[in-house]
Amino acid sequence: MSTPLERCHLVDLPKISDPRGNLTFIEGGRHIPFDIQRVYYLYDVPGGSERGGHAHKGLHQLIVAMSGSFDVILDDGTAKRRFHLNRSYYGLYVCPMIWRELDNFSSGSVCMVLASNRYDEDDYYRDYDQFLAAALPAPRSQP
Ligand code: TYD
Repeated sequence: MSTPLERCHLVDLPKISDPRGNLTFIEGGRHIPFDIQRVYYLYDVPGGSERGGHAHKGLHQLIVAMSGSFDVILDDGTAKRRFHLNRSYYGLYVCPMIWRELDNFSSGSVCMVLASNRYDEDDYYRDYDQFLAAALPAPRSQP
């Protein structure tokens, strides 16, 4: 069985190349494994700042660098992986129960997130230790 971190992956999005300007589209349930209920984006991020130290209990997300570049660090409590996003024709699929941080923003970058549900504060882990307690099975007590 794959780990939550192994279920996260880069998604190549369709790209219609055109000398007038390229076009990319995303259909929920087709290009990404969830229906899109919400879109939000980070912009005017000062170069060098960090965002998004939290995890979600049930939310599926696709993160796309619509402009500029930034890094996404994913952590399932057991292992970590850093992705550098810098193109608007691919995105990073993030499954539930992943602690997620964003850093290394270039100036003028725009981070768009497609999400499987509306905003719900109850879906967040904002405390890393609480996330770990939920993500990792409790050690079995010695007999
Ligand atoms: P948050 O998800 O905590 O972002 P970060 O971890 O990068 O700081 O969101 C920041 C604030 O925006 C928080 O008060 C919740 C609010 N928010 C919404 O109201 N709706 C949304 O869809 C999102 C993503 C955030």
